[in-house]
Amino acid sequence: MIQTMEQLRETVCCCEKCGLAATRHNVVFGVGNPRAKVMFIGEGPGENEDLQGEPFVGRGGQLLDKLLTAVDLDRNKNIYIANMVKCRPPKNRDPLPEEMELCKPYLRSQVALIRPKIIVCLGRVSAIQLIKQDFKVTREHGQWFEKNGTWMMGTFHPAALLRNPGQKPEGLNDFIALREKILQVCPEVYGQQ
Ligand code: URA
Ligand code: SF4
Repeated sequence: MIQTMEQLRETVCCCEKCGLAATRHNVVFGVGNPRAKVMFIGEGPGENEDLQGEPFVGRGGQLLDKLLTAVDLDRNKNIYIANMVKCRPPKNRDPLPEEMELCKPYLRSQVALIRPKIIVCLGRVSAIQLIKQDFKVTREHGQWFEKNGTWMMGTFHPAALLRNPGQKPEGLNDFIALREKILQVCPEVYGQQ
């Protein structure tokens, strides 16, 4: 039987498949409109996300929300945000390959339920997993890759933009390119409430 997003959330919220279960406070399943046509995929929860149970709620999340607002996107309206792993890696280390492997079926189910027209990878970890293994953010951010009818783009991770504010204009350009792509392939995004 096909699960709904809420049924999937209930399954994932008691998952103990990988070692990250032992140190998490909350599973960070995802946020947004399950009927969104545009999906953003980050790496894994940080400290604030682990405490609040929602993706991108720290300083990086505030910057992400600003970039989204600049192109009329809103996490509570017309997009969906998820991560490669749903539980926080201790000390914010990168998720291990085996953790991503064990968690991936949940992200796959989220993508299968949403069937996004556009996927934006936030940072190299998700871009390497989802776009191509040798993806280089500095060189290939903002470029479009079509995979099985879905348009995919990698851009800077918001935390990287906070560390290197000089890259913010390039980051904003990627969001402007995203708006162009949305207007081409799924303009109804801008009517979603
Ligand atoms: N960084 C991520 O990759 N995801 C989050 O949810 C928060 C920070
Ligand atoms: Fe389960 Fe994913 Fe959390 Fe690991 S990170 S415990 S696989 S939900």
